[in-house]
Amino acid sequence: MKKILLFLTLAFATCLAYSQKPVLSLVPQPVSVTQGDGYFVLNADTRIVAMQQSLDTLAKQLALRISHATGYKTSSRVQLLKMVPRNTIAIALSPASSLPAEGYELEVSSNNILLRGSTPAGIFYGIQTLLQLFPKEIESASPTTAKWQVPVVKISDHPRFGWRGIMLDVSRHFFSKQDVKTFIDNMARYKFNLLHWHLTDDQGWRIEIKSLPKLTSVGAWRVDKTGTFGKFSAPTPDEPRTYGGFYTQDDIREIVQYAKERNINILPEIDVPGHSMAAVASYPELSCTPGTYSVNSGEQFMIWPSGGHFYGLIDNSLCPANEKVYAFMDKVITEVAQLFPFEYIHIGGDETARNFWEKSEAIKELMQREKLKDLDEVQSYFIKRMEKIINARGKKMIGWDEILQGGLAPNAAVMSWRNMKHGAIAAKQGHQVVMTPTEFAYLDYMQSDVVMEPPVYASLRLKKTYQFEPVPDSVDPSMVKGGQGNLWTEQVYNLRQAQYMVWPRGMAIAEILWSPKEKRNWNGFVTRIEAQFPRLDVAKIKYAPSLYDADFKVKKKDSSSVIVELIPEIDGLSLHYSFDNSYPDEFYPAYKEPLLVPKDAVLMRVISYRNGKPIGRMINMPVAELKKRAGIKQ
Ligand code: ACM
Repeated sequence: MKKILLFLTLAFATCLAYSQKPVLSLVPQPVSVTQGDGYFVLNADTRIVAMQQSLDTLAKQLALRISHATGYKTSSRVQLLKMVPRNTIAIALSPASSLPAEGYELEVSSNNILLRGSTPAGIFYGIQTLLQLFPKEIESASPTTAKWQVPVVKISDHPRFGWRGIMLDVSRHFFSKQDVKTFIDNMARYKFNLLHWHLTDDQGWRIEIKSLPKLTSVGAWRVDKTGTFGKFSAPTPDEPRTYGGFYTQDDIREIVQYAKERNINILPEIDVPGHSMAAVASYPELSCTPGTYSVNSGEQFMIWPSGGHFYGLIDNSLCPANEKVYAFMDKVITEVAQLFPFEYIHIGGDETARNFWEKSEAIKELMQREKLKDLDEVQSYFIKRMEKIINARGKKMIGWDEILQGGLAPNAAVMSWRNMKHGAIAAKQGHQVVMTPTEFAYLDYMQSDVVMEPPVYASLRLKKTYQFEPVPDSVDPSMVKGGQGNLWTEQVYNLRQAQYMVWPRGMAIAEILWSPKEKRNWNGFVTRIEAQFPRLDVAKIKYAPSLYDADFKVKKKDSSSVIVELIPEIDGLSLHYSFDNSYPDEFYPAYKEPLLVPKDAVLMRVISYRNGKPIGRMINMPVAELKKRAGIKQ
């Protein structure tokens, strides 16, 4: 009897093991996935075939990725096949009607792999999915060993939105040409298709304009400072301007082409009339306020009163009452339009401090002449003239949602950043909208407690990002082009930190913009992105482990004591803590309920464990900070 039982148990376990299909951890989640049994196993003889000449570059890209990681001499060729032979990965364009734009169908059998798309873009995305189906070692840039198998599966997939972007600010900190290419590579792996390139701001003008050489000889350089950007000491006039850089027009053409090969469009932003200190430092005659200006080096120069207009301590805006400004912008836009094939140019329009306009005689005269009743209408006058210049160069205009103030021409598109409300208003007025609200999509915000992150004035947890829904109930979905995450770089000094800020929140945005809304599932998403982390490790891409950091919530118990609550962001963590300054491990108490902080404690340390293993980082929280947050005077 015992033997029979043992036999049955073993047989059952074998059946289970055999029928259990591998867990796929794809990000973003595809529209439809049907798993089969077994694997396609890639070896040194595997061939890659492009069925059309127009897919040759993509086939070569795939062969290169595979040969880098495997060390095989995997090659590709162009050939029309009736049937896909054994041990072959074939990519093919299908008639346009059968698959949605950017869509693809991927069929992996134990014999071969067939990837079809209606456009090369679809094929590109199918390749990204295929790479995620390989073991993580496929991310290696140098030959390594692994069982190069891909689970048998049929995937049918296409994006929910056609605008899936990330904005990179290269003004506050400069990112080299190679940095930008790496940033583009990282976007492509999660199926983003638009890089919004914030090329100008108060801290640096980063695009060569040949007819205005001072923009880059003067405007691209500032004093080199390290620490907390925005709180730097004011530079003296004689300090050398050694920090900065710019992209030559050749650099730009190279990056545009590089992005195109990865199905990424580039939206250039020239941020005017505010955020223009670098331009005004180069050509002071563009200001309403004559004087000498210098590129901001990270010292404070603006005030943000709560609820009020921005207040500039120095005039950093172009003067809408000055005809020279329009001639200047015509030169800039003419060159920008020639460099970027994308249909839109972003004109900025955000956060214009108008306190200097208020005092300007020239602005008063302009208001009288043009019958403008307030400064909103002055700004709108400027933006409408920008639109004419942009349209005259064959492009459409998009701007931050302040461009709605004082009226906007109907063909302009609006990028809604001051939450979703302005996007909804714009859509109802008939403007196409891109949603990029601070509360869900600002990738410069802290991902965890301020004691763990470079300090920024706001936080945005991964879980909150994953709740982003670009189409509000009240809005016609056809008015929403899509959305994007925005990476401002005041506190981002280099590419590693840029990656840390973007991932994994960028995966949440990628999934929101690509995958069907009804498939969204937080716990499933967490499981899948945790499976992405080892892949990013192999690819040497930095990411934030902030999802393992608990949040701290405090309550004042009495005039000197505080109660602390720990809130994990994800399920299944065990939070071990100490108040005695020592480093807690799994033998320390695990958090169960709100704790009264011991009277004389000075430091609370917390670390997350899962399945008996430490995960994430040690949080060192000063008790004085907890008391301050609870409103206890010390
Ligand atoms: C913005 O964040 N000022 C668009």
